[in-house]
Amino acid sequence: MALLGRELFFEPALSVSGRMSCASCHSPDHAFGPPNDLAVQLGGPNLDQPGIRAVPNLTYQEETPNFSIGPEAGEEQETRLHPSSTGAARTAPAAVAVPPHDRPKAADPAAAAAALVPEGGFFWDGRSNTLQGQALGPLLNPLEMGNASDETVIDKLRKLSYTADFKALFGPFILNNPRLLLSEALFAIGRYESEEKSFHAFDSKYDAYLAGTASLSAAEMRGLKLFEDPKKGNCASCHPDRKSRDGRAPMFTDYQFEALGLPRNTQIKANADPAFYDLGICGPVRSDSYSQQPQNCGLFKTPSLRNVASRHAYFHNGVFSSLDQVMHFYVERDIHPEKFYPRGPDGSVERYNDLPQQYRANVDVIDVPLDRKQGESPALDEAEIQDVIAFLGTLSDGYPAR
Ligand code: HEC
Ligand code: HEC
Repeated sequence: MALLGRELFFEPALSVSGRMSCASCHSPDHAFGPPNDLAVQLGGPNLDQPGIRAVPNLTYQEETPNFSIGPEAGEEQETRLHPSSTGAARTAPAAVAVPPHDRPKAADPAAAAAALVPEGGFFWDGRSNTLQGQALGPLLNPLEMGNASDETVIDKLRKLSYTADFKALFGPFILNNPRLLLSEALFAIGRYESEEKSFHAFDSKYDAYLAGTASLSAAEMRGLKLFEDPKKGNCASCHPDRKSRDGRAPMFTDYQFEALGLPRNTQIKANADPAFYDLGICGPVRSDSYSQQPQNCGLFKTPSLRNVASRHAYFHNGVFSSLDQVMHFYVERDIHPEKFYPRGPDGSVERYNDLPQQYRANVDVIDVPLDRKQGESPALDEAEIQDVIAFLGTLSDGYPAR
């Protein structure tokens, strides 16, 4: 099943252009992220239509929980409001929903318990719960593989040279059952992503360090301490770096959603329209009941930081192209906003300019290092920033170098 999924993952014949496969954007040589340094990738019939979001790495996706809105991590799993188990009517009650900026992470347990935190799901906005369900998205996205409908995809599946593999796995009549053919194909892609070792190699220098078979350099070790220190980087509060209690390796994401108030990326074509905003959970791509709740607007999923050093476009809109820029944004966003945001007509700096005014209050200004105001000193100085970057380099798979 996974081997068939691999064929499909690399199959350009499934795209309307005939030239694009999953691997075009999710290259196995780049942690299943993009092979170039564009902020967003080009797709569609002529491979000239830019997307609206940066392509995430697909490594280490396997533990992604279903999308849910529930109490802050540490609370009992049972008390979460699972959309699937509670039904559509029981979405997050507005009365107890606290905007993200009012809920410091783990600082005030009472406030945290009351807060309802979106978590999990695939895509930057968490809109899909399974790899199988996810895989149809790019096949039908007009800016990606561009098929007009499920039927178009089914038609292409039937014409593949290896339909014998489908028959061997799913029985001789599979080609006569279009819905089943499509769902088995998507399932196979999901199996490939789950079973292929290189999606979750766990062979980074940091994994070797955790196993006691490698030691970190002085700079990497300083970086690790800063990454964990709640008063310095505080990165681990959202990108956990320790083994779980049952011994599972750290994924460097808590799968929770935050609004970081990123600068608008003028390289994204859709942004030429001043009325266009990518609001994460609030759409435009996502359109379920969660997208109707103002406290979710501007929130995006925390990505894993494994293999992060191999990326060339950072954050959901790919606005930064280096870890150096990312780090300066984290520690100086509100101290030197003029470094990141343009000035408006009246000369004032337009902070959080990728969000409409009414949602800027959702931006996290509580959690270290994002809590600093103009005139205060940054949580990390220049040397400390370089140490954290050195540490992030230990999260790349293939240590020692392949
Ligand atoms: C044109 C580029 C492109 C192609 C082709 C493409 N993807 Fe993606 N992929 C993206 C982008 C962009 C996102 C993030 C989209 C979003 O969050 O809305 C994404 C997200 C994903 C995710 C979710 C990752 C996460 O962090 O939650 C998975 C899984 C995935 N793609 C698998 C696939 C598979 C399987 C295929 C082939 C059927 C495919 N992709 C084809 C661009 C692409
Ligand atoms: C309050 C939670 C929080 C804290 C603290 C935090 N992050 Fe993040 N991080 C996020 C979220 C959420 C995103 C995605 C935001 C988006 O794209 O809109 C992100 C994205 C990133 C990315 C981009 C990854 C990619 O694939 O594009 C990097 C790199 C990163 N964080 C590193 C760090 C480092 C280093 C620290 C500590 C200095 C840190 N983060 C602290 C929540 C957090």
